[in-house]
Amino acid sequence: MDNNHRPDSMERITTTQQALSFIDDQVDRIRSQVGDGKVLLALSGGVDSSVVAALLIKAIGRQLVCVHVNHGLLRKGEPEQVIRVFRDEMNANLIYVDAVDRFLDLLAGVTDPEQKRHIIGEEFIKVFAEEAKKQEGISFLAQGTIYPDILESEQGIKAHHNVGGLPEELDFELVEPVKLLFKDEVRVVGKALGLPDSMVYRQPFPGPGLGVRCPGAITRDRLEAVRESDAILREEFEKNGLSGKVWQYFTVVPDFKSTGVKNGKRTFDWPCIIRAINTTDVMEVTVEHLPDELIDHLVQRIISEVPGINRVLYDFTPKPPATVEYE
Ligand code: XMP
Repeated sequence: MDNNHRPDSMERITTTQQALSFIDDQVDRIRSQVGDGKVLLALSGGVDSSVVAALLIKAIGRQLVCVHVNHGLLRKGEPEQVIRVFRDEMNANLIYVDAVDRFLDLLAGVTDPEQKRHIIGEEFIKVFAEEAKKQEGISFLAQGTIYPDILESEQGIKAHHNVGGLPEELDFELVEPVKLLFKDEVRVVGKALGLPDSMVYRQPFPGPGLGVRCPGAITRDRLEAVRESDAILREEFEKNGLSGKVWQYFTVVPDFKSTGVKNGKRTFDWPCIIRAINTTDVMEVTVEHLPDELIDHLVQRIISEVPGINRVLYDFTPKPPATVEYE
C-alpha cells in the first residue's frame, strides 16, 4: 500500500486518549525503523517540527540530533524557548546555531522580495547541511511533513517544502512520523507529549520569518522595531484573550519615514503597521476589527516603547486583493 496515503479507516485524532495511542504506536515504529542509528532534525520551533522532535525524543532520546538555526528573523524569545523546552526540559541533543550575522550580512541591501526569500531559503539549507556534515554517523533525517503537504504536492499546488532541497551528498533515509496527520491532530499529539501551549497553539509563521515583515532592504534597526512591536502585539493579544481567537496577527515596519513630534522636537521615523486577520483556508482572509481601547493602548505602547516608530497604522485590507504577508 502507498504509505503516503491516509487510510479511510484512520480515525481523526481529537482526544488525549487517541493521541496517546498514536504516540505509543509511533514510538514503536520509530524504534524499529531507526534501531541504534542517529537521526537529524531541523527544529524551527514551529508546531510540526516541535511535535516531531518531542516524539523522537520519547522514542530514541539522544540518538536524535536537533539543529536549531537562528537566522536572525525569528520572533522575540523564540530561540530561547526552543532551548528551554528541548535542551533544558526534555534533555534533547540540541545544537544551537547562531547564524544571525551570516543571514543579515547576506541580506544587506537586497530589496527584491523574491530574492530575499530565495537567499533565506538557500542559506538555511547551507547552514543545516554544514551542521549535518559535522555530525558522525547520521543515517536518518526527521521531518515535520504533515498530510496537507503531501496532498498539496500531489495536486501540484506547491512543491513539498519538506522534501528535497538538501544537497545530494547528504543521503538520509526519512523519518516522518506525523505525515498522515492534519494540523489539528498534530496539535492534540503535541499537547499529549507535554509541549507548552505557546508552542502547540502557535499562530502560523512564515519560513522567511520577520524578513517579510521588514519590507525592502532589511536593516538591523528596522528589524528590531518589527521584533519589538510584534512582541508588544502578542503580549496584548494574550492579555486580552485574543491570541486563541484571531488566526494571525503581526506588525510590519515599512521602509519609509514621516515627520512627527516628540517632547517638542521634530522626529523623522518609521510607521508600524498592525495586521490581524481571520481565515479558514488562507485563500480568503477577513480583517479582525479590534476594540478602540485596545487600539489606543497598542498605539501608546508601540510609540513609547519601540525606538524608531512615530506612527501606528492599521491594515483594513482583506485577501484578496492583499496577501497576508507584505512580501
Ligand atoms: P500570504 O501572504 O501568501 O500568506 O497571503 C498566507 C499564509 O502563509 C504564510 N506564509 C508562509 N508560510 N513559508 C511559510 O511556511 C512562507 O514562505 C510563507 N509565506 C507566507 C502567511 O504567514 C500566511 O499565514
